[in-house]
Amino acid sequence: MKYEKEIARRRTFAIISHPDAGKTTLTEKLLLFGGAIQVAGAVKSNKIKKHATSDFMEIERQRGISVATSVMCFEYKNILINLLDTPGHKDFAEDTYRTLTAVDSVILVVDSVNGVEEQTRRLMEVCRMRDTPVIVFINKMDRDGKLPFDLLDEIEKELNIRLHPLTWPINMGKEFKGVYNLYEKSLQLFTPNQKSDEENTVQIPDINVSLLDQKVGERDAAQLREDVELLDGVYGALDKNEYLQGKVAPVFFGSAVNNFGVKELLDTFIQIAPEPLGRSTDKRFVEPDEDKFSGFIFKIHANLDPRHRDRIAFLRVCSGRFQRNTFYKHTRLEKDVRFSNPYSFMAREKEVIEDAYPGDVVGLFDTGNFKIGDTLTEGEMMQFTGIPTFSPEIFKELINKDPMKTKQLEKGISQLTDEGVAQLFTQHGGNRKIIGCVGELQFEVIQYRLLQEYGASCAFMPLNFYKACWITGDRKKLEDFVRFKQQNVMEDKDGNLVYLAQSEWFLNTERQNNPDIEFHFTSEFK
Ligand code: G4P
Repeated sequence: MKYEKEIARRRTFAIISHPDAGKTTLTEKLLLFGGAIQVAGAVKSNKIKKHATSDFMEIERQRGISVATSVMCFEYKNILINLLDTPGHKDFAEDTYRTLTAVDSVILVVDSVNGVEEQTRRLMEVCRMRDTPVIVFINKMDRDGKLPFDLLDEIEKELNIRLHPLTWPINMGKEFKGVYNLYEKSLQLFTPNQKSDEENTVQIPDINVSLLDQKVGERDAAQLREDVELLDGVYGALDKNEYLQGKVAPVFFGSAVNNFGVKELLDTFIQIAPEPLGRSTDKRFVEPDEDKFSGFIFKIHANLDPRHRDRIAFLRVCSGRFQRNTFYKHTRLEKDVRFSNPYSFMAREKEVIEDAYPGDVVGLFDTGNFKIGDTLTEGEMMQFTGIPTFSPEIFKELINKDPMKTKQLEKGISQLTDEGVAQLFTQHGGNRKIIGCVGELQFEVIQYRLLQEYGASCAFMPLNFYKACWITGDRKKLEDFVRFKQQNVMEDKDGNLVYLAQSEWFLNTERQNNPDIEFHFTSEFK
């Protein structure tokens, strides 16, 4: 185990939330603690503004900044933290799902006023698929939100995870007085707009001491005692293993904008969050402390300069040590590749690095060799798994508006879909192309980028499909099915057969009529 020390000091995670719950604000505060203040401004401007859903310039501007904030590294109490950014906009949910494959844990931000929202639910489903450990931060306690016990109830039921509060709020909204740390038995008093610090923390060796009444008033002190008694009875001590297995989520209450409760969150995070974990491949499980390097690409970002089509591929190091100028095996292409300018995201500026360790994310310049999910190794032929593609929600046929530019269009759409902007389905045995996306915004991005970067002009014709299902089964039965359902069967980019269903009813009928064919809802079904 050559790199034990390096592995032990790394934590790689993402913050997830429904838009507006406070992800950006919390990110900024965490960066402040890590001393990476310079980046903080950029985080804020990384957001796609609510009103700007069809503003191309906004998208472009956002793309530029989001390279810089894709991975934010900072050091806190000697721990190297890699915080991977996830786009908040729902149309980019697919991007977020993929980023979640590259982290080892997440912090989920819930708005105390709105409770569990649509995006929270979907993101948590993805975390549950991989048993990702979750810490919950209930934000905006300075506003009149739902009652804390009701919030816990709601989150447990809606997200299907057991919670374990580690702090407890004293009132909320205008009356919000602070949080009681159930773990350390200390009281942290809230003063709006002030950075929380040690002075604001009062040690309460016994919750019955009169100091508590002096600090928060008799009525709130009595309520807190009652709550704490109940909480102690129900929860007891946190079982770290249950957290690490993704079964129990510790909960913190606070107010990100007031920087309140954030330090407690971060201090606990570095204590309990998992070190870089191993990953499965199609051949075997890879442990992080193996001597040989391996890693996978989870995100690809096109460069902004349309004259240069190079892209940046984001590599998560899974095992061993990645080194600059060293040949590695690109296992899908069975080709040796090396990188002379790999960079890390440690400083304000991109910085060329000599090496990287498990948990780290490295930016690699790519001229079109990479697809999401590609694996690099020191020679072993394996492919990391667990990076599935989900069914898109909106389907449109790609129409070429300029036959003179057919080649450019084909190349453009192929590269953009490699990047994971959208999914491309090609008619089985034909040339019809269907693009599948999670949101309308992506179609606008594709149209814009095809024109700007490839000079190809296209239109989209809406199609009435509801879901894409990958189909497998007996060869003869599949052939028959494909013949009968020509209009509905396409191929994905890897040549896998995909059935596009017009509605849930059609899908269920086909499943009943074809018991020998399996219908899969994600692209990974081995
Ligand atoms: P997001 O990334 O999850 O989408 O959320 P973001 O941090 O941008 O926060 C959404 C809004 O909620 C922001 O207000 C932010 O200031 C506010 N906010 C964040 N944390 C708290 C908190 O603890 N208490 C209260 N009361 N508000 C909070 P905005 O008006 O949309 O933006 P801004 O003009 O304030 O920047």
